[in-house]
Amino acid sequence: MTLLKLPGLADIHTHLRTPGGEHKETFTTGTAAALAGGFTTILAMPNTHPPLIDRSIIDQTRQKAQLAILCDVGLFAGASAHRLDDLPGLAAGTVGLKIYLNDTFGPLRVDDLPTLLACFRRWPRHKLIAMHAEGQSVAVGIGLAAAFRRPVHFCHISRKTEIELIAAAKQQGLPVTCEVTPHHLFLTRGDTDRLGPLGDMRPRLAEPEDVEALWRHISTTIDCIATDHAPHTLAEKQADPPPPGVPGLETALPLMLTAVHQGRLSLDRLVELMATNPRRIFNLPPQPDTFIEVDPRARHVISSENLFTLCGWTPFAGMTVTGRLVRTVLRGQTVFDANRPQKSQRLLAKPGTGKVLP
Ligand code: DOR
Ligand code: ZN
Ligand code: ZN
Repeated sequence: MTLLKLPGLADIHTHLRTPGGEHKETFTTGTAAALAGGFTTILAMPNTHPPLIDRSIIDQTRQKAQLAILCDVGLFAGASAHRLDDLPGLAAGTVGLKIYLNDTFGPLRVDDLPTLLACFRRWPRHKLIAMHAEGQSVAVGIGLAAAFRRPVHFCHISRKTEIELIAAAKQQGLPVTCEVTPHHLFLTRGDTDRLGPLGDMRPRLAEPEDVEALWRHISTTIDCIATDHAPHTLAEKQADPPPPGVPGLETALPLMLTAVHQGRLSLDRLVELMATNPRRIFNLPPQPDTFIEVDPRARHVISSENLFTLCGWTPFAGMTVTGRLVRTVLRGQTVFDANRPQKSQRLLAKPGTGKVLP
């Protein structure tokens, strides 16, 4: 067995559910899932209950995180039309501003131009703006990036038209970046019959031609792979309508290693997409003596049994993958060892091991 040593991965798009959704995931269970997936830094989204839109909630959430996290965690501030004056004061405790232009889980939504302009004027220029933008909302985001000459990062791009628009914007030299999720690379709308509510997320699964377009842009236009890890309980997913979202921290690396094995991208490109680029785009601090070991040839079947996410399921259960995480080392300490026979022995980090960023 030849093991590869890669840098600790960074997931710039995770839902950790604190405050208010701790029955779906906690800071400890979510960061456990991160370490089990090879991620040593994750950035948590602000669509919590209450959402991360004011200073006191962000400060309280940072304090809760510091006691509980097993890897490094940064928080996003959320944009809200009611809290525009507060925006500059939220930058110090967060890694970026998240603007939701389209409907998804939770109440955060900004879809009027006056609020968007205020966000771009008030959010400090040295901190990134990230957008949930689908369809023509991507064009709105590109227009704002051009008009304000400041970077905009597009979350979970999933359609051929969207990735082609971003490619065109990049060709014009506009400061835009984007991420794609493993579920939009490995599943299509055809899987929704089989998966039922477990295949429901925003953006929804797309057509094969969309997925093919994403793969065509994997070594050019796409900057990052991000999980959009969005845990909901199985009971919640049975509701009508189900809450949108799927967990992904523990399946992203084996899926992307499988794509390397199949010759769809190089291992160097995987490292750029899952470690180097996310760290550069979000200006994340280096983690000394931090790395993962993977066995690129280990074939196994993805199973819900082995997961550390509190929600306990994955839409990829039953899929055979090639490539497995063996060990995660954070600042010189082995924090996850997949070779231990008992699941309860594999996680070696204590709550508080991680740092809250920045
Ligand atoms: O499917 C999704 N679930 N998409 C999102 O944008 C939000 C997320 C969630 O928080 O559950
Ligand atoms: Zn989103
Ligand atoms: Zn999300």
